[in-house]
Amino acid sequence: MRKALIAANWKMYKTAAQAKEYVKAFLPLVTGHDRDEIVLCPSDTSLYTVIPAVTGSNVAVGGQNMHFADEGAYTGETSPVMLKTIGVTHVIIGHSERRQYFNETDETVNKKLITALRHKLVPIVCIGEVLAEREAGQTNDVLRRQTTLAFAGIKPEEAQPIVIAYEPVWAIGTGKTATPEIAAEAHLTIRSEIARLLGREVADNMRILYGGSVKPDNATALLSQPEIDGALVGGASLDPQSFAKIVKY
Ligand code: 13P
Repeated sequence: MRKALIAANWKMYKTAAQAKEYVKAFLPLVTGHDRDEIVLCPSDTSLYTVIPAVTGSNVAVGGQNMHFADEGAYTGETSPVMLKTIGVTHVIIGHSERRQYFNETDETVNKKLITALRHKLVPIVCIGEVLAEREAGQTNDVLRRQTTLAFAGIKPEEAQPIVIAYEPVWAIGTGKTATPEIAAEAHLTIRSEIARLLGREVADNMRILYGGSVKPDNATALLSQPEIDGALVGGASLDPQSFAKIVKY
């Protein structure tokens, strides 16, 4: 049985003060909810506010990105050690916005994945096709390629903590959600590729989340698909009531 993981990706929203207010409103809404793992991913400037605010609760905290080096002359970057030592437990890797605007490649995703595992951060690795690829019938090839390149050099016995987020780029922030059937089909493709790379057992145990315009009113249909093991939520996670409704779909 795969425990579902529901993660909020706040992207570049919320000051530290706003993040604190959010947690105050959100925690009582999900008290005692242990069916799913709940993760908030604020921007780095709010980590220091959010981590103490959730300590002792059923909510964990993730970073939205990290560098693959432990330290170094990389102005503006955050290292896995910096995240880990303040209590961050999860980290999003390879989000499509980072691939699109910040030069993230399948190669840097792979390096970050290896580093995250080394530091015992739970990696949430994002993959997904753009609209032109879907329309050209290339979705399965894109998903297989991104999966293969992300997992290069990773052994089956190391892979257990990895979480994948299937985020079709055309569904992010657009209000166009993949239908549960489209999402489930993509998840099956990803899972079969993981089975080919790392074996059936690893594939069967790996959680594959869906992301892209998940809202309270479509969460149940998506999350009740057996292939969908949780959600990575952007816009609808910015409001505590709305995100709590998704968590409790
Ligand atoms: P939206 O939920 O706003 O479409 O964003 C999805 C996403 O990118 C989560 O990482």
